[in-house]
Amino acid sequence: MYNVVSIYSITNNNYRNMKIIGINGSPRINGNSAQLLEIMLKQTEQYGASTKTYHLNKMNFKGCQGCSSCREKGNCVLKDDMNVLLKEVKEADVVILSSPVYMWQMSAQTKLFTDRLMPLLKSDYSSRLVGQKLLMLYTQGNTNCSQFSTYFEYTKNMFSFLGFRVLPPFVAGGFHHENDIQKYPNIIQRAKQSAEAIMMADCI
Ligand SMILES: Cc1cc2nc3c(=O)[nH]c(=O)nc-3n(C[C@H](O)[C@H](O)[C@H](O)COP(=O)(O)O)c2cc1C
Repeated sequence: MYNVVSIYSITNNNYRNMKIIGINGSPRINGNSAQLLEIMLKQTEQYGASTKTYHLNKMNFKGCQGCSSCREKGNCVLKDDMNVLLKEVKEADVVILSSPVYMWQMSAQTKLFTDRLMPLLKSDYSSRLVGQKLLMLYTQGNTNCSQFSTYFEYTKNMFSFLGFRVLPPFVAGGFHHENDIQKYPNIIQRAKQSAEAIMMADCI
């Protein structure tokens, strides 16, 4: 019943032109996080979304320099690839940010990106975003998907503070080798369903 309703709703609403940006924070370009991200993006494309993928590890950007001038001006003093990502985030309807869990947290590449999102805030800490949704996609070695839920919740609150409408995170575990995802058709199926839910989500 749920699937019938969701497909009906997706094909009969105006989400067809949705722009979705996938950002992969794993250094493994063909790893589990990247593959799950691509599966989700492909699924949204089936419903008319346009998508783009960026791999943080291939991009050239530094950590935040802490000057805080971005909150006055809306842009960063650093001239590097992060400006491409900031523009994409501002123009997107949905951002899917995938990261492996490294040492109970997001990867360093993903954290570097996150710190550089400061230009999304104004000097009074209100947001320059206009309703963009964000979904965190985490992969981990641990098969217990609740193991790091405290951290995921904390991170969700941080992204909400930045002004994103944050969707429930997608968490999948049991990955060690790059291609382990292929052993788990049930997780692939869950990722596709989660992608459909993104197309449906009005607001969280
Ligand atoms: C440096 C490092 C730290 C890791 N820390 C954790 C961890 O704290 N908890 C966990 O469950 N898995 C941990 N893992 C395993 C990865 O989260 C897991 O293999 C992930 O799916 C890799 O994603 P990828 O294939 O997209 O690179 C770690 C892996 C590495 C390389």
